[in-house]
Amino acid sequence: MRSNVIAGNWKMNKTLTEANDFIDEVVKTAPQLEKTEAIVCAPFPFLASLVEKTKGSQVKIGAQNMHFEDSGAFTGEVSPVMLKDLGVTHVVLGHSERREHFAETDESVNKKTHAAFNHGLTPIVCVGETLEQREANETMQHVENQIKKALDGLTDEQVAKTVIAYEPIWAIGTGKTASSKDANEVCSHIRQVVGKVTSEATADKVVIQYGGSVKPANVDELLAESDIDGALVGGASVEADSFLQLVEAGTK
Ligand code: 13P
Repeated sequence: MRSNVIAGNWKMNKTLTEANDFIDEVVKTAPQLEKTEAIVCAPFPFLASLVEKTKGSQVKIGAQNMHFEDSGAFTGEVSPVMLKDLGVTHVVLGHSERREHFAETDESVNKKTHAAFNHGLTPIVCVGETLEQREANETMQHVENQIKKALDGLTDEQVAKTVIAYEPIWAIGTGKTASSKDANEVCSHIRQVVGKVTSEATADKVVIQYGGSVKPANVDELLAESDIDGALVGGASVEADSFLQLVEAGTK
């Protein structure tokens, strides 16, 4: 039985004071998380403080990107070794904003996914189609290609531990959510693809999140679908109140 994973992706938002206030509130009020995981993916400068503040709680802290090398002459980059050392547990990889603005490719996402596992971090691998691709009926093929490339060379055990986030690009930050049926159809296809490259048993274990304008008002409907095991949330994860409501929905 898969648990729901609710992850907030703050993107480039908040100050350290705001980040600390948020996490104090969440740690104080978070419900018992038995069947759900709650993760806050924050900008690099806040990670150390957030990890410290969540010690002894069930809330986990993730990064929004990383380099695939352990160390070296890569000015401005952050390595998996650094994240692990801080106590970060998860890392978002291949977000569409990184693919669009920072030249992230399927190849670099694959290298980063391997690096995450080599250092005991759980990757949250993002895939999703543009509006043009959806309108041209290319969604399934595009997402299939992204998944196959991202997971290439991983062991079945690693694939089983990977969190996949299906985020249709046209639904991110636009207020347009994919209907729960459409989102589930793609998540179900992703599970089949994972089954083809590994095994059905592995595919059955993989957590597949939906992301794109998820909010307290639509999260129940999305989580009720057979192949949606959580949400990767931008805008509605930035305020503690709203994030807590999403986490609460994940525990039902
Ligand atoms: P929104 O929830 O703001 O649409 O963002 C989704 C997202 O990109 C999460 O990674």
